[in-house]
Amino acid sequence: MIFTIKVNGQAHIVDVDDDTPLLWVLRDVLGMTGTKFGCGMALCGACTVHVDGVAIRSCVTPIDSVGTSEITTIEAIGATVVGARIQKAWLDREVVQCGYCQSGQIMSAADLLATNANPTDAEIDDAMSGNICRCGTYARIREAIKQAAAT
Ligand code: FES
Ligand code: FES
Repeated sequence: MIFTIKVNGQAHIVDVDDDTPLLWVLRDVLGMTGTKFGCGMALCGACTVHVDGVAIRSCVTPIDSVGTSEITTIEAIGATVVGARIQKAWLDREVVQCGYCQSGQIMSAADLLATNANPTDAEIDDAMSGNICRCGTYARIREAIKQAAAT
């Protein structure tokens, strides 16, 4: 089926099955490989993108549920005020180790700070609890979110 989806401010026409996960449309059809596959079951957060500004797991989001919503991926989050602050803080705090989970971490952090400009540690931990990091960068993620919130 043909869908017209809006990704990072641009319309894209894609021809895929109705139940194709958004993740695979982004990666395989549109070539936006910044969004990662981890579990495919909404358990790890690696595939997190925004739909109308809200963080969702693209691995379990069928393309036919997206409609005309604005999809934002890691490729464009730096163009937002909050996203730019977060990316700077991530670099300043040297958060990244292998990097595999970090697109999803940043997308979840951007959703958090867009709705809660000054989160407590508990609120950060709660908002980020669905994003798993096998390298254990959690402490630096928390510090980077606090830095981004303070700037
Ligand atoms: S790949 Fe989507 S939550 Fe793990
Ligand atoms: S930085 Fe390696 S999985 Fe998070």
